[in-house]
Amino acid sequence: MGKSHVTFKINGADIEALVEPRTLLIHFLREQQNLTGPHIGCDTTHCGACTVDLNGRSVKSCTVFAVQADGAEIVTIEGIAAPDGTLHALQEGFRELHGLQCGFCTPGMITRAWRLLQENPDPTEDEIRYGIAGNLCRCTGYQNIVSAIQYAAAKLAGRTFKEAAE
Ligand code: FES
Ligand code: FES
Repeated sequence: MGKSHVTFKINGADIEALVEPRTLLIHFLREQQNLTGPHIGCDTTHCGACTVDLNGRSVKSCTVFAVQADGAEIVTIEGIAAPDGTLHALQEGFRELHGLQCGFCTPGMITRAWRLLQENPDPTEDEIRYGIAGNLCRCTGYQNIVSAIQYAAAKLAGRTFKEAAE
């Protein structure tokens, strides 16, 4: 089958490529662009490890063909930190509040939370839990992930995050 010519803006860079029509966006990102932050944790659109930002929405990139995303603006976990490497408040929050253990879900989790905080900069705990409901973590039990997102929301708003007392 012939290849299709596609163009994207990925993490701010203009990208042109040839892709087979059957190529999933996650495979294109990982195998053709060497962006191995987005992970493959299932094949059923279940886990969210492959989450990227596509034209301002969180999508599971294992469920999108690369050709369907032609012309799109895509942000992956590799595009979340500042160009000089300064961590985003979310990345700092996950580090400070132990929002990860094995880290496999973390790129998708942070990329999803990044969009969530743009949609809702001051989410309640319930809104955070609902917002990340499409992202599964097999390690942490979610409490530290939720705290990490609360930390980031507070930091981005110029406040200091105080964890709720036990
Ligand atoms: S790999 Fe895409 S949802 Fe699991
Ligand atoms: S930190 Fe291991 S799956 Fe989330």
